[in-house]
Amino acid sequence: MEIQVAPGLYHPHEASSSAFILRTLLREGRPLGELLELGCGSGVLGLALLKQGLAECATMLDIDAVAVAVAAGNALAAGLADRARIRRSDLFAAAEGETFDSVLFNLPLQHRAQAGSNHPALDDADGDLARRFFQEVDRYLKPGGAIYFSYSNLSDPALLADFGRQRKVGLAAAEWVAASGVWLLVYRAEAAPPAGADN
Ligand SMILES: C[S@@+](CC[C@H](N)C(=O)[O-])C[C@H]1O[C@@H](n2cnc3c(N)ncnc32)[C@H](O)[C@@H]1O
Repeated sequence: MEIQVAPGLYHPHEASSSAFILRTLLREGRPLGELLELGCGSGVLGLALLKQGLAECATMLDIDAVAVAVAAGNALAAGLADRARIRRSDLFAAAEGETFDSVLFNLPLQHRAQAGSNHPALDDADGDLARRFFQEVDRYLKPGGAIYFSYSNLSDPALLADFGRQRKVGLAAAEWVAASGVWLLVYRAEAAPPAGADN
């Protein structure tokens, strides 16, 4: 599948978190049903998962208007536009009131301010976006739904620990990227049990 990427968008090259997540999900082979992808960027993840038949349909959201336009173009070119709904959205806003079988977010992984770096695809100052994602994701999941997300040694471990106290969270894959000196991690989490149920 051909994926076009505009300048400034996250590039899903071979050593990227995009390629790592995709390899992990394809290897797991679990059906994703109706998929919500946050921060879709070029659309590479949602579109590849549709193409491979793991997702039936995908709602793909990004705060970046260029990403949304590029992802929509990639969906058309791949013949997937009828199964992909692509919208500009701050986190879950455009999916308000809807629920999905699975939610996927290849997060911006740098939670500590990096001198000279402030890119929405890479930088999440103080982990504010990750914190909101963890706090809100349950509202958009069907019962029994699954959450997939990236994390790294540049992300705040305390946020992940809090999230893990409310539900089952398992490491799906880990990879050391020598070129960048970063650990890439992919987690699979379950929806939080209803209030009052045993975790
Ligand atoms: C690491 S990139 C991942 C892009 C793509 N999913 C991939 O794997 O190649 C993170 C994406 O999150 C998006 N993003 C950042 N803040 C966001 C927000 N508040 N709401 C939605 N998307 C956001 C960025 O624009 C960027 O496209």
